[in-house]
Amino acid sequence: MKIERDLHMMKGDGEYSYAKNSMIQRRAVLATRPILQKAVREVCRDLHPQLMVIADLGCSSGKNTLLFVSEVLNTICESPTSTLNKEESPMEVQFFLNDLHGNDFNHVFQSLEQLEQSTRQECACRGLQPPPYYVAGLPGSFYARLFPCSSVHLFHSSMSVTWLSQVPEHLGCLNEGNVHVGATTQPAVARLYQDQFEKDFSRFLHMRCREIVAGGRMVLTLVGRKREDVFDAGRTTKIFELLSQGLRTLVSEGRLEKEKLDSFNIPVYCPSTEELKQLVQQNGLLHITDIHLFEMDGSPTDESPESAGAAVAAAQAAGESMSATLRASTEPLIVSHFVESILEDLFALFARNFTSYIESEDEQSGIFVITMSLEAKH
Ligand SMILES: C[S@@+](CC[C@H](N)C(=O)[O-])C[C@H]1O[C@@H](n2cnc3c(N)ncnc32)[C@H](O)[C@@H]1O
Repeated sequence: MKIERDLHMMKGDGEYSYAKNSMIQRRAVLATRPILQKAVREVCRDLHPQLMVIADLGCSSGKNTLLFVSEVLNTICESPTSTLNKEESPMEVQFFLNDLHGNDFNHVFQSLEQLEQSTRQECACRGLQPPPYYVAGLPGSFYARLFPCSSVHLFHSSMSVTWLSQVPEHLGCLNEGNVHVGATTQPAVARLYQDQFEKDFSRFLHMRCREIVAGGRMVLTLVGRKREDVFDAGRTTKIFELLSQGLRTLVSEGRLEKEKLDSFNIPVYCPSTEELKQLVQQNGLLHITDIHLFEMDGSPTDESPESAGAAVAAAQAAGESMSATLRASTEPLIVSHFVESILEDLFALFARNFTSYIESEDEQSGIFVITMSLEAKH
């Protein structure tokens, strides 16, 4: 598996597309809105740029990408410092939307017209005018340099830096029967995941520190853990356990080779707040201004059941919906490692197993999300 070639969210706006199956990620953008708004206001107030350069790293495609852009524009609209003074022209904004080369940038570009209309309307309702802005797509890995030195005022990344640059080095077939850190994973394997994250996140910060202007801001949101125990990332751990369980079923039915399952590992890591703080401290060039842990509702839709019968149907719908959500993020990796013909059965198994989990658990853990606002000290 080569991440830069094989990883992308499902394209377009079909049944299993990321655009249609990213409600959980959307909740993260909505929950962290006040932190983003504060960072935008601080850049306007403290740096007063004539051209504000903003980058969204791991933007994917669909409503969440546009939600970020419109949120920033609305905040700038309301910011009293977005014009230098009455004689001077208003601040201009340049957005760079970054993702890996396989991302559906066409889908993003096609949605820009809709963004323009809604932004103009929203600002007009409040008697305001959006700043002149320009949007460009920027393909490439955020584990490499993306921008010239000291050129970006605000970096944003939501639910993306959780993806590692590669499957942890030396993992091979050591994580038998699991696709992630699961109940039967050896502690040494969990350590390999931790080491890879430390290396990747440090590199990510190092690259951004070269690119950010002095006093610039970074708002990073990651799927994380509440506890230090690396084996317990709440519902995220459960979701990967259930995916492993589905693959083990296909192995037991003779539809997949065991070696194929043993050598498949999802390159995602969920850090704790402490781990993130330590890595930022080690970097030494950034100052944490805010850090929060949220427990988000882990259900893939917003509907809640009203009766016992409805609860059964809702559990089934939740299974299908979570299956589509997981498929929208992992199908390209699964197809590149296994064969496409297992997809339907694998995700049907996952949906059933997830429904049983919803029905059997009284107390269900949510998805833990950590958001940090950082300021460049240099
Ligand atoms: C779960 S999606 C989140 C998308 C969007 N920010 C949102 O909130 O809905 C994660 C995105 O990060 C991208 N990504 C993962 N690793 C990356 C890397 N090394 N460089 C750039 N983008 C990456 C993936 O391709 C994917 O589009």
